[in-house]
Amino acid sequence: MKNILLLGGGGRESALAWKLKQSPLCGTLLIAPGNAGTVDYGTNIPVSVSDFAAIKKICIDHNIDILVPGPEEPLVLGIYDFFKNDPALSQIIVAGPSKDGAQLEGSKAFSKKFMARHGIPTAAYREFTAETYNDGVEWIRQSELPIVLKADGLAAGKGVVIAQSIDEAEQAFKEMLIDSRFGTAGSKVVIEQFLDGIELSVFILTDGEHYVLLPEAKDYKRIGEGDTGLNTGGMGAISPVPFADKDFIQKVINTIIDPTVSGLQKEGIVYKGFIFFGLIKVKGEPYVIEYNCRLGDPETEVVMPRLENDLVALLLAMGKGELNNVTALHSQKKAATVMLVAGGYPSDYHKGEVMSGFEKTDGSLLFHAGTAVKNDNIVTNGGRVLAVTSLADSLSQALEQSYTNAALIEYEGVYYRKDIGWEFHD
Ligand code: AMP
Ligand code: GLY
Repeated sequence: MKNILLLGGGGRESALAWKLKQSPLCGTLLIAPGNAGTVDYGTNIPVSVSDFAAIKKICIDHNIDILVPGPEEPLVLGIYDFFKNDPALSQIIVAGPSKDGAQLEGSKAFSKKFMARHGIPTAAYREFTAETYNDGVEWIRQSELPIVLKADGLAAGKGVVIAQSIDEAEQAFKEMLIDSRFGTAGSKVVIEQFLDGIELSVFILTDGEHYVLLPEAKDYKRIGEGDTGLNTGGMGAISPVPFADKDFIQKVINTIIDPTVSGLQKEGIVYKGFIFFGLIKVKGEPYVIEYNCRLGDPETEVVMPRLENDLVALLLAMGKGELNNVTALHSQKKAATVMLVAGGYPSDYHKGEVMSGFEKTDGSLLFHAGTAVKNDNIVTNGGRVLAVTSLADSLSQALEQSYTNAALIEYEGVYYRKDIGWEFHD
């Protein structure tokens, strides 16, 4: 039996906790900080994902064998290296890359250069800093529209601007580089070609040499139906992705996944963990939009229910560098997640609204995201509140099930998109 500490407290971590807890190899499961739903699978500990000293103490006090960082923040801050460099922690399996490896997500400029070195298909780009600001403005003025600008560092999903005019691009460029709108994250800016296609998310778990392919997913990022309005963390997801057929996935493996894993290995970048390939299919060909050094949210809420392998066994094989001995097992069923959010999200929204209706639901997995317990009530505690996931023989059935149950959950201001998976109804 292995004791596990899972870092994070969103829907992704609820799905991971649910999956880890099913393993006969799972001993104590702790979640830091967790949410009102993760208590169904383990014990919450009120510690922040970036408080490494407190995380160390938990690991020692509870004899932790495996650390699973959910979000990118601790990985980009170097939690892997922190564990490996501390004799009291170095035996613990950390399911995530070294600080260098996490740069695939932590720096857009790093990831673009990495892709260039290994011939991995991605949008053509240039990189600029305050010193080369004028060159950047020149570059923008002769670019084709739309123009994609990306703050180099982590910007909580807000660092990408798709400008429809030269003026808008110049304005965003100035805000990032000169006005420091994203702090130091914007001290370098990547300007890249706009790719017109359809997006999907592909995930692997790698031991640095071998990997297993997890189920792919598609998320719905915009707040409004028909993919309109502001960008969000993700309003829903489906898996499998109908347009990602066998041939397409094989192209992804040959042109993107294999060169990424072998590129990391050749460059001596230690990477044992999840890689999230944010891809776009353009005229049948896959391109990388971004790498993430973690799983996706809400993608994990459809990926974990379709993964038939024992996740703890996968993490142990990863720790030993033996993922070549493992065959990935994906359920034939279709999964759909509908995300219930707070009224007003992704702009200003309330927290602390009392939630009800949980006991009326039937046949879906309710993965809590932004929830907490207050005065014996479950209350909202974030923008994305609850992921309602269903698994069925068809995508339409899975969606119908999720929507039936989503309608039973009540709180002031509840909102969800009614058109998740709309383009793929079967
Ligand atoms: P990111 O934060 O890198 O995930 O970017 C946010 C969103 O911007 C992506 O999910 C895409 O929808 C879009 N995007 C980013 N880069 C490009 C690009 N080169 N071409 C088209 N859309 C893009
Ligand atoms: N759903 C996109 C992400 O997790 O980044």
